[in-house]
Amino acid sequence: MIKNDLFLRALKGETVERPPVWMMRQAGRYLPEFMAIKKEYDFFTRCQTPDLASEITVQPIRRYGMDAAILFSDILVIPQAMNIEVEMKPDFGPYLPNPIRTAKDVEQVIVPDTEESLGYVMEAIKLTKEKLDNEIPLIGFAGSPWTILCYCVQGQGSKNFDKAKAFCFTQPVAAHQLLQKITDTTIDYLKAKVRAGVDAVQVFDSWGGMLSPEDYTEFSWKYIQQIIDALKDEAPVIVFGKGCWFALGDMAKSGASALGVDWTCSARNARYLSGGQITLQGNFDPARLLSPPKEIKRMVTEMIDAFGKDRYIANLGHGILPNIPIENAGAFVEAVKEYRQK
Ligand code: CP3
Repeated sequence: MIKNDLFLRALKGETVERPPVWMMRQAGRYLPEFMAIKKEYDFFTRCQTPDLASEITVQPIRRYGMDAAILFSDILVIPQAMNIEVEMKPDFGPYLPNPIRTAKDVEQVIVPDTEESLGYVMEAIKLTKEKLDNEIPLIGFAGSPWTILCYCVQGQGSKNFDKAKAFCFTQPVAAHQLLQKITDTTIDYLKAKVRAGVDAVQVFDSWGGMLSPEDYTEFSWKYIQQIIDALKDEAPVIVFGKGCWFALGDMAKSGASALGVDWTCSARNARYLSGGQITLQGNFDPARLLSPPKEIKRMVTEMIDAFGKDRYIANLGHGILPNIPIENAGAFVEAVKEYRQK
């Protein structure tokens, strides 16, 4: 059994002493101990070496004592396993030299056996579980099919993912075939992660908010729902859709255990749109971690008051930024741990 099960209890909607806390992208670039490893090994070597990936996963836990760990990896290991080349260029981000642009390209994409092609992730999970020694739960994750399609078609990060949208709107049949292949791979992958030991899974729909509500239903939500249906009896599922406040109503009825919210949606609105029963996760503006620690603590307390301490997981509204001072990240975690209901 897991000693600190606050996170799992919040996912079940149980009454807790205080909300659990973790930070999206908590294992990463704002930590000096991460930068030391980054100097020695390139990005995918860090992902593919279980000893490094598990070490990076536990680094923020050792420093701050969050209530959950998230496996160090990337959403783009999925296209890699599907035979799509992905590079991580320093100071540039993801780069896919042969983006998917035609129906013929989609045909070339394979649905792999992920236990085999992503065996290194499963090994990293087993090693991380050993290092965590049942102190706190471990979260596994995947990108949403739409967010993965964005990179596969665009070929790199983008402000509007115009090429990805153009592909969906001019070649919808091919787009849906690609989305289904990504979905099938993701379901297989997340099930393998659960078998390897993760205690919950999160689907990152980082670019869902690029779509109109109608297009979101067709190109993103339909596929996330398939993932939830396939996973929900095996592990709690958290869905984080950046900019997807309009979908909170559908999401609340989906069988997901919790929904992520970004900072542009107030706690009150998020509770209202999601029907008031489901666990919510979020939504501190990542840039607000640049405020002085005292101010961060005050704002975090107000955030918990606004969401309520139950059915709530304190987190950021998106990933932590590289330029956040380490003591400011510490103030965020501490403020949640010190929270007492008035
Ligand atoms: O806590 C953690 O850090 C867990 C590991 C994690 C990473 N990426 C490591 C990473 C997680 C959960 C992700 C998810 C991810 N990756 C998302 C979804 C979440 C989000 O932030 O929206 C997306 C869109 C990606 C794709 C990706 N990976 C981009 C756009 C970049 C480059 C920009 C950046 O953030 O630096 C990456 C690289 C990446 N993934 C880094 C890390 C720590 C930084 C690069 C490095 O360390 O060399």
